[in-house]
Amino acid sequence: MPIDLSTIKGTVAIIPAAGIGERVGANKPKQYLTIGGRTILGLTLDKFLNFDPVELVVIVVSPNDQYLANLRYIENAKIVVIDGGNERVESVNNALSYLFDNGLPDDTAVMIHDAARPCVTHEDMVRLIETFNQNQKACFLALPVADTLQQLDDEQRVLGPLDRRNIVRALTPQMARFADFKHAVESAVINKLPITDDVSALVAAGQDVQMVIGRADNIKITVADDLALAEFYLRQQQVV
Ligand code: C5P
Repeated sequence: MPIDLSTIKGTVAIIPAAGIGERVGANKPKQYLTIGGRTILGLTLDKFLNFDPVELVVIVVSPNDQYLANLRYIENAKIVVIDGGNERVESVNNALSYLFDNGLPDDTAVMIHDAARPCVTHEDMVRLIETFNQNQKACFLALPVADTLQQLDDEQRVLGPLDRRNIVRALTPQMARFADFKHAVESAVINKLPITDDVSALVAAGQDVQMVIGRADNIKITVADDLALAEFYLRQQQVV
């Protein structure tokens, strides 16, 4: 149903949740696995619904999704649900197109956050949004790399180390002005760029992006072992 987004003044959050999560090896998409009796998507959603600057949350799910309807509070007036695509970048592009079609102003602040990162903290979200407001340019949470990074060729031969001082791990949320995300992600889809986050699209489109050091507990649940670690962090945060 078309809604009028032209009066939105706060931040819009986009939560891509249309992945299959094959690497976890479960019988359902990883965002619907539970930790302490709550789904990963529900835990992630709560972080954004309880974050005052966020006025609207766009959840992107698979067109074949059978689980979302069972989620408690999915009727929340702050939430809209739209269909995703085959790749993460397509899912995000669908969300941005939906916002564009419904009149979201170009200057709206947009945060994009993986459904698979339920441990993101209020503290990190505040620091990100403060950085965005101060500098009026795109920014994202990131972490320095502790391990030595060895580059491999296509046959898995070790070519030698990368300079880890010049490398960070890109986390989410990632934040930019709506029109900047829209232009960058749409170009990435049109040009079939093999990207796995939204900062990559911004940089490819020539945008200046600032990093904000994030917390190490903001893990992306990817393999089965990550569930126990996420549960540990969420208990520490007294969320579950
Ligand atoms: O696969 P990966 O862990 O990198 O996915 C990151 C996030 O992107 C997940 O929350 C996943 O549900 C979402 N995603 C999506 N559409 C896809 C693939 C992944 O929304 N086609």
